[in-house]
Amino acid sequence: MNKKLLEMKKNIESLYLHFPFCRHLCNYCDFYKKVPKNRDLELNDFHGYLDAAYVEHEKLIKKNGYSWVPLKTLYIGGGTPSLWGLEGTRYLESFFIKNNIQLSSDCEFTLEVNPGSWSHEILSEWRKIGVNRFSLGIQSMDGQVIKNLDRVHTIDDVYETLEYFHKENLNFSVDFMLGLPYSNDLKRDVISELKRVLNYSPKHFSVYILTVKNNYTHFAQLPNEEWIEKEYLDVADFLKNAGYSHYEVSNFALPGFESKHNLNYWKSSTVAALGPSATGFLAEEKIRYKWKTKEAVLEEEILNNKEFELEELYTSLRSIGINILEKIESNPQWNEVSHKWEEDGTAKISNGHLSLTSKGFLLLDSLMNDLFIKKLI
Ligand SMILES: C[S@@+](CC[C@H](N)C(=O)[O-])C[C@H]1O[C@@H](n2cnc3c(N)ncnc32)[C@H](O)[C@@H]1O
Ligand code: SF4
Repeated sequence: MNKKLLEMKKNIESLYLHFPFCRHLCNYCDFYKKVPKNRDLELNDFHGYLDAAYVEHEKLIKKNGYSWVPLKTLYIGGGTPSLWGLEGTRYLESFFIKNNIQLSSDCEFTLEVNPGSWSHEILSEWRKIGVNRFSLGIQSMDGQVIKNLDRVHTIDDVYETLEYFHKENLNFSVDFMLGLPYSNDLKRDVISELKRVLNYSPKHFSVYILTVKNNYTHFAQLPNEEWIEKEYLDVADFLKNAGYSHYEVSNFALPGFESKHNLNYWKSSTVAALGPSATGFLAEEKIRYKWKTKEAVLEEEILNNKEFELEELYTSLRSIGINILEKIESNPQWNEVSHKWEEDGTAKISNGHLSLTSKGFLLLDSLMNDLFIKKLI
């Protein structure tokens, strides 16, 4: 291949797939999902959607000069992907063969799993087709909190799930939620809950603060901001003391177990996506595309340089941090702002690199406001 063509070669090496079905619709959830009325029929339609989406996607990537290379990351999110079952493993195997999509030998292949929505047999089939990382929707280790949150599973399902993943020595992440309804009344103690999770040796935690719309059923029972801030900072301290690095606003990992797939989003790299409501990004052209839910049609949006720079800054601050020397060179005002952040304990600077602390992650919106006031964004 000549030099010019080599330079132009743009690779797709990360893929997100959205599986849009759940057993029950949790009343706080805003993701695209539905409960199937006729599983076989709707799975069949979904597979038809993915096949049609692949064809559309080929047009998009060919037009922009991209080609598939063996995937380094593959993430199946939802919805509840563990409900895709054996039909899912069979469909994906043939989808990859038919479309000549390969997984690299060290591909990070993640499947989201809900307590109460998986079986040993099905998980072992997913492991056979290459899944080597699982994201478990645990949310809380308190049975009453789980009930109040409108989850369909019980605390027994949670323990059964954790026990299986621990016993099988699997690489798994635990999703945990803060700011949950009735936390005040129940005196929810997230640290003692997390201590119980640690007995099962997860490699990674994703910790999200509940976000809801104004018409949320338990809006009046949500804890106040002070409570939530304390929960967040207590959790961050606890997990850091337990050896997990706080490497993104909502994410904590043991060394070497950061999510490679999600790091691609935070580094504004190319990530392909297929499935209703899934969003992908072609980094060179700054094209974001989103799949419609009813038909396999994608909508493209091209970010202009200013929008891209702002987004890149925001995602870098919420994760890997920024090269502060370059920023100061571009505008000396960065010097003042970064030192103020350091004094406030919201950022740390080392070897010309600025990254936010847990307190900085919590106050990210107000830090962005500092940049806005100084006309740095
Ligand atoms: C893509 S969701 C799907 C995971 C899975 N279906 C489940 O519910 O366990 C991934 C995670 O987002 C978090 N999440 C869902 N809805 C949320 C909301 N309204 N606010 C904050 N976090 C939310 C939960 O921790 C959930 O596990
Ligand atoms: S199981 Fe997960 S994706 Fe499904 S409705 Fe509940 S929170 Fe949403």
